[in-house]
Amino acid sequence: MDKKKILIQLDSDPQPSVFDRIVAIDAGADEVFSYGGVRPEQVRDLVHGAIFTRGPKDLKNTAIFIGASDVAAGERLLEEVRRHLLPQFGLRVSVLLDANGANTTAAAAVRAAGRHLDLKGAAALVLGGTGPVGQRVARLLARQGADVRVGSRQRARAEKVCDAIRSTASSAHVEPFSTGTTPELQSAIIGRASIIAAGAAGAQLLAKAYWAKYPGLKLVIDLNAVPPLGIEGVEVTDKGKERDGIVCYGAIGVGDTKMKIHKAAIAKLFESNDQIMDAEEVYALAAGI
Ligand SMILES: NC(=O)c1ccc[n+]([C@@H]2O[C@H](COP(=O)([O-])OP(=O)(O)OC[C@H]3O[C@@H](n4cnc5c(N)ncnc54)[C@H](OP(=O)(O)O)[C@@H]3O)[C@@H](O)[C@H]2O)c1
Repeated sequence: MDKKKILIQLDSDPQPSVFDRIVAIDAGADEVFSYGGVRPEQVRDLVHGAIFTRGPKDLKNTAIFIGASDVAAGERLLEEVRRHLLPQFGLRVSVLLDANGANTTAAAAVRAAGRHLDLKGAAALVLGGTGPVGQRVARLLARQGADVRVGSRQRARAEKVCDAIRSTASSAHVEPFSTGTTPELQSAIIGRASIIAAGAAGAQLLAKAYWAKYPGLKLVIDLNAVPPLGIEGVEVTDKGKERDGIVCYGAIGVGDTKMKIHKAAIAKLFESNDQIMDAEEVYALAAGI
């Protein structure tokens, strides 16, 4: 008989996310063991507890989910988890990183874009491109062959994001842009077929006057659900809605797909014990949704 599906939730926040826990149960985990305030030096014993209890053939029924509101902290936990798996003995479990929902949200946004545009060579602008979600959106777009402008109020921050993307994908077409002032924003938009806004909750990044009826612009996606929304004129529930000839998605419109991807990713963890799912793996999974 198959063992119970146990998801071990490692969260660097003091209180492990209730949202992530509920999604895990809805996605088919029988039990969720939630650990909050997890620091890298605590990960070894948590991983050992996961890999030394069941035999290799049953380890697909144990998996690790890494969450955190701080994505960098989540990335450090993932690094540490990888260090303590013992694949040479078959003693490993599958792992999903979705700190702050960044991977599933970015995958959903890029999937939405791909429904309307051929991403290869697509001219895109990612506003708020330095946050955890924006960075992943830019990275996924670039890996699909898009020509990506990464926007930030500080060009140096966008430059860092572009360098990080190039360091993992040398052929990536990514370019940093200052987008803090109106003239900067206007020049960043020139020639773009799509704009994805991944700015902070409650921060408007783009007024309607700068995108509505913009020649050549085909698609805008706003991931901010907290008023004022990131792109003025896009409704939070828009899901492929045409406005002034431009296809629009709002945060709830994308959020529906994000939830499907999140659940599918949890379910996939229990198919085998050898998966490490970060942005690219989550995006690949999203293609089937
Ligand atoms: N729909 C969903 O399912 C879903 C799921 C998760 C997250 N989200 C949303 O996705 C968005 C991005 O999330 P995140 O965690 O990556 O965001 P974040 O880190 O809070 O912010 C992203 C970027 O926005 C810029 N920014 C911050 N404050 C600003 C301001 N007052 N005015 C203009 N720009 C500002 C910053 O870039 P610079 O300083 O470089 O300019 C920052 O790096 C958020 O709105 C979040 O709520 C949606």
